[in-house]
Amino acid sequence: MSEQENDSMLTLVGVLGAMVAFAVFIGVLAYFIGGFAHEDRPLEARELAALKERIAPIGEVRTSDQPLETAGTAASQAPAAPRSGAEVVQQVCAACHGAGVLGAPKIGAKADWEPRLAQGFDTLVNHSVNGIRAMPPKGGNPGLSDDELKAALTEMLKQSSLSP
Ligand code: HEC
Repeated sequence: MSEQENDSMLTLVGVLGAMVAFAVFIGVLAYFIGGFAHEDRPLEARELAALKERIAPIGEVRTSDQPLETAGTAASQAPAAPRSGAEVVQQVCAACHGAGVLGAPKIGAKADWEPRLAQGFDTLVNHSVNGIRAMPPKGGNPGLSDDELKAALTEMLKQSSLSP
């Protein structure tokens, strides 16, 4: 190796060494600056709420086959005490039978109910429990007992000037 080559070799090693030293220095510096800037501290409630809101899913999949009007409401869950016919009608059946949704016989419309009742009260009770065509089983509310359904049916007939 000539002396000249040797010199440039030394220069190269010197430059490389300086670059490595500089990189290490920057790294250490960044570590300290970074460390001071975001020290580890628990999130405040406000920040946590904001974070949860940001990462919250935009929708949820419904896995229940209950109609939306009744699903998930407190009224649709089985309560401790049985509800009266009037309560069940108001909380569940009226959603469809109030306005005659999907062709449901309307509460108060005797003419709607008369041909239904002609099938026999027990048949109507059976259809209340098990559903028929667009009428969902238990009015879409699995928490209702047969007695509650029977009472609700009786109530709807009564309000339509009919008796079982
Ligand atoms: C999601 C809407 C909906 C709800 C809630 C609902 N019904 Fe109905 N119901 C219907 C429809 C629609 C019909 C008409 C079905 C047909 O004849 O095609 C019907 C018909 C009926 C009939 C007549 C069945 C027959 O054999 O003619 C009875 C009885 C009845 N419903 C009872 C109830 C009772 C009791 C409740 C409350 C616990 C209730 N329904 C809640 C939609 C509903």
